[in-house]
Amino acid sequence: MSTSLPSSALKRITRLCTKRRERFYAVAKLRSDPVYAAVTKELLGSALPVLDIGCGIGLLAFYLRESGFAPAIAGFDYDAQKISCAHEMVSLSDCEGLSFMNGDARTGLPEYSGQVVILDILQFFTREEQEALLNAAASRVAQGGKLIIRTCLQNDSLRFRITVAGDWLARLTNWMKDAPVCYPDRALFESVLGAAGLRVRVQPLWGGTPFNNHLVVAERE
Ligand SMILES: C[S@@+](CC[C@H](N)C(=O)[O-])C[C@H]1O[C@@H](n2cnc3c(N)ncnc32)[C@H](O)[C@@H]1O
Repeated sequence: MSTSLPSSALKRITRLCTKRRERFYAVAKLRSDPVYAAVTKELLGSALPVLDIGCGIGLLAFYLRESGFAPAIAGFDYDAQKISCAHEMVSLSDCEGLSFMNGDARTGLPEYSGQVVILDILQFFTREEQEALLNAAASRVAQGGKLIIRTCLQNDSLRFRITVAGDWLARLTNWMKDAPVCYPDRALFESVLGAAGLRVRVQPLWGGTPFNNHLVVAERE
């Protein structure tokens, strides 16, 4: 089943962004990043609610709604401006069951039970913080649910170096509040999430991008 949305649906999402910078970001991300379709493919068909940690302006939530995903979706991000943008987008949409909260994942997560998504934030955490976040996220995955992570994996590839440069560019342009600190490796997911009782698979998620991104899917069976 294809989970790529037609351009009419993508336009409905980007039109919800009233500020130029956010709209430009949304257009570029939704057109070029394979992550939204990949995560949608993993979540569609489940009735469990979703917690999106580091949700940004909430693009995944709107993408899921356009794809026909009906369960509640809660976004959580420490950037108050992005959360405020997500709130405005909800108010301009006809989407129901979307909520967005401001908070720092390094100091705690909201109580939750369902499926959990973490896209592109682990590089801002130390190794110890990554382990703590993975354990906290895993404890919120309900029976039959998944923890879905998109991350760059550390290795000696050109893709890895390009990803690091992209993260620094995001910091230098002030799009991101933090610079990258530590990139995880595959062993981190296998050891921490395996010990938390989840079955882990890791696959490249390059699409047409030059980045060293991978999709980690950990299921509680
Ligand atoms: C590269 S963006 C990805 C946004 C979104 N997940 C997406 O894919 O559309 C990373 C997001 O993680 C958020 N973030 C980074 N560190 C965080 C933390 N400690 N707690 C909560 N959110 C954080 C940033 O504010 C940013 O919105």
